[in-house]
Amino acid sequence: MKRRLPWLAPLALFCGYHFSVAFCGMTIGVIRRQNVAKEALPPGKAKLPIFGDTLEILNPKKMLSYQLERRERWGASWTTSVLFKKAVVITGQHEMSLARKHESRPKAFEAFFPPHHQKLFGESSLLVQSGLGHQRLRRLIQSAMVPKAVERFKSFIDVAIGDFLESCRRERGYFSMTKKLQETTLRIVVQVLLGEDLPEEDLEYLRRNLRIWAVGLLSAPLNFIPWSNAARAMRARGKVEEILLKWIEERSKKLDDTLLSQLIRATDEDGSALSTKEIVDNVFTLVFAGIDTTASTLSSSFKKLSQDTELQKLLREKLQGPEGERYLDAFLTEILRTNPPAPFAMRLVREPLKLENVTVPAGYLLVYGLGASLSDECYEKPDEFQLMRAWNQSVTTSGAFGGGPRLCPGRYLAAQSAQQVLAAVLGPEGFHWKLKEDQKLEQEYSPGLFPIDGLMLELS
Ligand code: HEM
Repeated sequence: MKRRLPWLAPLALFCGYHFSVAFCGMTIGVIRRQNVAKEALPPGKAKLPIFGDTLEILNPKKMLSYQLERRERWGASWTTSVLFKKAVVITGQHEMSLARKHESRPKAFEAFFPPHHQKLFGESSLLVQSGLGHQRLRRLIQSAMVPKAVERFKSFIDVAIGDFLESCRRERGYFSMTKKLQETTLRIVVQVLLGEDLPEEDLEYLRRNLRIWAVGLLSAPLNFIPWSNAARAMRARGKVEEILLKWIEERSKKLDDTLLSQLIRATDEDGSALSTKEIVDNVFTLVFAGIDTTASTLSSSFKKLSQDTELQKLLREKLQGPEGERYLDAFLTEILRTNPPAPFAMRLVREPLKLENVTVPAGYLLVYGLGASLSDECYEKPDEFQLMRAWNQSVTTSGAFGGGPRLCPGRYLAAQSAQQVLAAVLGPEGFHWKLKEDQKLEQEYSPGLFPIDGLMLELS
């Protein structure tokens, strides 16, 4: 035994040394990998293990406060789970613009919606398409919504505004301005699509079914239960689809300047056009995406102007002069920043995403916290409403309209419609109003952002 020691000792030392080195190396490697993962993924602790913050992120009442509270706690980005998937929420403007640059790589991201949303929007909707399919649809649809095309919609929008002013004047006593604006923005979209007003009963039928459809969107995905909101929404979609098919058939016979004609006429470089199914799914999407968002912008405008009568006076005065449009534009930009109608957007990350301080692994959801991003510290005194912010800082409306390859294609139409409505109300042919006392003016998403009591007012 003693005789073996002279060579066993160096062997033991050799093995021990290498084992220790390997062990330490592995340990350091594991620690380093954990640190890399910890460094890369933002902090966060979801309330529930797999369900995470789903109930708060998707809860219309909590959407915005959730983002603001979590940002206060974790900083501009945090990790959680949403709809059974690991997710990273980002709310910093800088991180967002970096992420959007990655979005132009066709395989980097996928649109992400719960399965019943995909059914409700339709599989050819721009919203649910990704990659090259999405790019093709964007080209075709956007060509019908560029500023030059929107310019031609002005007279159609004016017809809907005429109806709006008249119906406000017909009201006796207090009425809900929110409801009136939702009716008006539906009228505007129908006018822009068809170039004509629908009879009131047809509009009411459309409105009723769109409302059932929107309730289904915000409900649990129980479409296999016939009496669930999701199943009712599918049936409502079927009814609206019948109307759209009739419109497309009629409009195909006499193409003109309307949005529907332009969608039917739009062709890609290779000569391909939108199929009837693509038109139906996307008209549906445009109607959904356009009505509540624009009504919400206008409702927040009315609320602000009711509470700040000096600002209202200033805008009325400026509208008489050459700078009226510029002031109105600055006002709407700040309204959209302080009252974002669309609070978040989600993507499924397909290729690992490396931002400056955050890495999001493939398979995670990336949630753009648009609501909180608009009070980011890149804005000077973000909590203040500054009419001239858009002039003094390089603030654009694009914050509220998203960005990158999914930047809202309806932004010109939305801005044009909102400007025309406000110019008509605050101009010489418009009206003055006063708010009903004792009403809840706090706003909730439903799905646009509206005051809880519907913004009750009467003309004065
Ligand atoms: C003030 C009004 C509006 C706001 C604040 C708004 C906001 C947004 C935002 C934030 C997105 C991007 C969502 C994402 O990143 O996934 C978006 C997308 C979209 N918006 Fe708007 N929107 C408005 C009005 C409109 C109007 C009037 C239309 C059409 C009539 C419209 C049609 C669309 C469509 C089709 C998309 C999907 C684009 C895509 O996925 O490629 N929006 N909108």
